[in-house]
Amino acid sequence: MSVTAIIGAQWGDEGKGKIVDFYCNHFQQDMVIRSNGGPNAGHTIYIGNDLSKKITLRQIPSGIFSKNTLCIIGSGTVINPITLIEEITKLQAWGVDFNKNNFLISNRAHLIFPWHCLEDQADNKIGTTGNGIGPAYASKATRAGIRMQDLLNNNYNYNYNEFIEKFNIDKKYFSIYKDALMTLKDKFSHLITDTHPIITKYVGSNKNVLLEGAQGLMLDIDYGTYPFVTSSNTTTAGLLNGAGIAPKALTKTIGVFKAYTTRVGLGPFPTEDTTEYGDRLQELGHEFGSVTGRKRRAGHLDLVQLKYANELCGFDELAITKWDIIENFPYMKVATAYADTDTDTDTDTDTDKVDKYTTFNDPKNNCQLILKYIEEKINSKITFLSYGPKRDDIKFIQ
Ligand code: IMP
Repeated sequence: MSVTAIIGAQWGDEGKGKIVDFYCNHFQQDMVIRSNGGPNAGHTIYIGNDLSKKITLRQIPSGIFSKNTLCIIGSGTVINPITLIEEITKLQAWGVDFNKNNFLISNRAHLIFPWHCLEDQADNKIGTTGNGIGPAYASKATRAGIRMQDLLNNNYNYNYNEFIEKFNIDKKYFSIYKDALMTLKDKFSHLITDTHPIITKYVGSNKNVLLEGAQGLMLDIDYGTYPFVTSSNTTTAGLLNGAGIAPKALTKTIGVFKAYTTRVGLGPFPTEDTTEYGDRLQELGHEFGSVTGRKRRAGHLDLVQLKYANELCGFDELAITKWDIIENFPYMKVATAYADTDTDTDTDTDTDKVDKYTTFNDPKNNCQLILKYIEEKINSKITFLSYGPKRDDIKFIQ
């Protein structure tokens, strides 16, 4: 029996989807749960080793391609029926059959309504993905939210016309939304259920359960760079809570990070590099938001930040991704201290300056040395090294 959490250790986009996909294929997972967030996430995976078969999963767990794996959209999530139906339809075209054995949605998960998206887009001070995530979680917190169970019970009674007038928008958008909601209800209501007893049974028996994190630790609503954060808890504890699993059942946490750092949207980014180096990272790493298409800001690996992530999430193991990108550079810089702190342990959200970098020349030939240095600074062990987009472009280091 195992419960493993796979967490984004930076500002999201670390390559969690690929690590989850790889993990499911190498260590048979019986259940994969998405615990938090919604269609703000974009987990890109390539089916098999074929680079033409790319899919970006936004709400459905990345374990959906693994045989004998039950994927669950957990209680801590917020769901947009339009994107969910789109995703299901795309996956069906790839041959995925959605049934009770491979896919369930928690009846506690909340629905994102069109006005959540409109509110999010109308007042977007921090550069959100515009998917209504914040307003949907706000409705949940004010007890005005509509849950999946309400959809099953017909227990939602919004006057759409009121919102059409309030936001002065095209009626067509609302009808697309209503259609998606009805499709969800008519065709997939047998997959919406109280997932608690099912998850509890798996955790209590000889099964392997994987928690797939969304976003990254630095976007956590409590411990991230507030207010430039998402609206859920992205920590290990947040994932356990969103899935409904008691902390004592957790057996392993894996922190995923890139060999450099990126961030989409506004907010502090201590190691951001606005020179040619950063531009090249952005370009070679194809650093565009998988959901919004926005250019990601790019910079150096930040070991102060990653140590902070480890303090909050407790990484038993680490997965480093996009090593192939950093190999193109003659040198690699890693931040080891911030200017306004005495120690190298504290990530202050006001910090915007790094005063200590260690530079390694020729990362391609100094891989071992650099990985060892990173392990020592973060205080955890690197067990996965991802060096390309294909499923097999990963080394598992025991
Ligand atoms: P929201 O989650 O759409 O409200 O956006 C809040 C912040 O989190 C913005 O800076 C987004 O760019 C960022 N964000 C949300 N989801 C992701 C993700 O999956 N990857 C990277 N950044 C994200």
